[in-house]
Amino acid sequence: MSKESLANLLREERHFPPPADLAAEANVTADAYEQAANDRLGFWAEQARRLDWAVPPTETLDWSNPPFAKWFADGKLNVAYNCVDRHVEAGNGDRVAIHFEGEGGDTRTLTYAQLKDEVCKAANALLELGVKAGDRVAIYLPMIPEAVVSLLACARIGAPHSVVFGGFSAEAVASRIEDAGAEVVITADGGFRRGKANALKSIVDEALRRVTGVRTVLVVRRTEQEVAWTAGRDVWWHELVDRQSPEHDPQPFDAEHPLFILYTSGTTGKPKGILHTSGGYLTQTSYTHHAVFDAKPDRDVYWCTADIGWVTGHSYIVYGPLSNGVTEVMYEGTPDTPHQGRFWEIVQKYGVTLIYAAPTAIRTFMKWGDDIPAKFDLSSLRVLGSVGEPINPEAWIWYRHHIGADRTPVVDTWWQTETGSIMISPLPGVTDTKPGSAQRPLPGISADVVDDEGNPVPNGGGGYLVLTEPWPSMLRTIWGDDQRYVDTYWSRFEGRYFAGDGAKRDDDGDIWLLGRVDDVMLVSGHNISTTEVESALVSSPKVAEAAVVGATDATTGQAIVAFVILRGGVEESDTLVTELRDHVGATLGPIAKPKRILPVAELPKTRSGKIMRRLLRDVAENRELGDVTTLTDSSVMELIQRKLPSAA
Ligand code: WT7
Repeated sequence: MSKESLANLLREERHFPPPADLAAEANVTADAYEQAANDRLGFWAEQARRLDWAVPPTETLDWSNPPFAKWFADGKLNVAYNCVDRHVEAGNGDRVAIHFEGEGGDTRTLTYAQLKDEVCKAANALLELGVKAGDRVAIYLPMIPEAVVSLLACARIGAPHSVVFGGFSAEAVASRIEDAGAEVVITADGGFRRGKANALKSIVDEALRRVTGVRTVLVVRRTEQEVAWTAGRDVWWHELVDRQSPEHDPQPFDAEHPLFILYTSGTTGKPKGILHTSGGYLTQTSYTHHAVFDAKPDRDVYWCTADIGWVTGHSYIVYGPLSNGVTEVMYEGTPDTPHQGRFWEIVQKYGVTLIYAAPTAIRTFMKWGDDIPAKFDLSSLRVLGSVGEPINPEAWIWYRHHIGADRTPVVDTWWQTETGSIMISPLPGVTDTKPGSAQRPLPGISADVVDDEGNPVPNGGGGYLVLTEPWPSMLRTIWGDDQRYVDTYWSRFEGRYFAGDGAKRDDDGDIWLLGRVDDVMLVSGHNISTTEVESALVSSPKVAEAAVVGATDATTGQAIVAFVILRGGVEESDTLVTELRDHVGATLGPIAKPKRILPVAELPKTRSGKIMRRLLRDVAENRELGDVTTLTDSSVMELIQRKLPSAA
């Protein structure tokens, strides 16, 4: 990024110290930073002892062949044993593991003892189907308890799972099954979303017309809709799993045994199968869940609102919280079914104390109105987490105020599918939090912001986020493509992991994430972050959401084009557009004033809630739209284009 980067124009003066009572009893205190700085590997060796090892590791990190890491390589453990059995053996079998809430209001409660039985039965069923350690199992399920059970059953027998998000198409399912070489698929007849029964089995059927090699499809009955049946291949879960023994002896696996493959969204090219292994991954998901959420297994009720199809669901619905023996809520459906207060109703009903959600959801709640959460008792909440995108300062403040009653810390957690666990985040009992900043690397993690040449930027500077030391839950490779692993992550800056995100350091040295580097604009020779212009727009009380892109411009190289969703009751007009341009100018400086501001009804988003700026760039540059297959709702683009007959 250029030296003239404007990356530090948006200053945040507000900050919030941790609540005294939380700080006094916090799981992790400030000395963890110091301890880890003095002896990073010793710190992680200690965190590994959070787990039960069949053979405790004597070696922490083998980095003799970088960037191929081995963590705890001579240790052996069973990941599922750590997530269920050991809590039962410790006398906590009656503690609720999962409060499941179906979209239609049906509920199920699974204690740790019951979860253990279900996981053992499913493991025995997979063994009966001939699944062996090392075989890959594809999972395409809605958000129902069988999803958690399936992941843990695979882990228990050492069969790496490859979860495909339930909203993906047959083509995406087929390519992921093929790349992973899965021979068994676990799916359901369908799931409930927006009050309707969605089909899943029929999509698997279609996918399997395109790929060979799958011998069994195990089908959970959820919606009871009609499904086509391929005799000899398809098996009902309730017929096979229910008759299995709830006893299964968990065999220990090497710490580096593959635990799962998860495909990243991949904005370009073939999706990357990110490979995670067992001991290091479980160590860091367990530690970070304990540290960042301050989770207390005997008291807290934790709710991660993500889908199990994303890494957030893997690490913070399944492995982190369950390895810690925490009680959690799992919700099947959408936040607006049957009404826009559904999330807050669930918080009230189960007394949720820790919640983990995405900025896109938080901005949607802002748009729906403050009066909706106000109708519910949210006083049980004590930590609010955010993940997936930079959270705009105004959304952060709204979250803390309207959901957290100005009492709860907000932890903005930066990480990636590739990192496996949270890397940069405040600690709720330690950090003086700043709206919009993920702030500093967790204890034991080393990150930096560097310029084009790889030199660390001083405070006040902007550049690229890099991770400077290996970490336990790092990806081990891209499945079947070691060279792509090296090229994608370890070649941009010698010896360092390139995250692909722009970042800046403020005057205190805190890190601000600025979005993917592809989303940085170059206007008249200045680097301007889309995130910051978006945050400036959202800081106007008239704007609910904003997406900003750089469009090719004859004079300035790129010109800033902003798409905004106005808050309820705000009318669009030329004066409003001028007012918003001036507002950005006053907040960030005149150079950051958008050339055009276009009010729209919706923004194009991926199924994981990320804005697809690439498509907006196509519109702004009057081009034919690129690939729209990963959009949640493709009609959104038609609406935007219709608004803009003369977009260029
Ligand atoms: C990308 C990774 C992390 C699990 C879910 C997404 C962006 C994620 C933050 C945050 C700013 C964030 C980054 C990152 N991102 N969290 N707190 N602040 N940006 O996993 O799909 O692999 O996406 O999400 O751009 O690189 P993913």
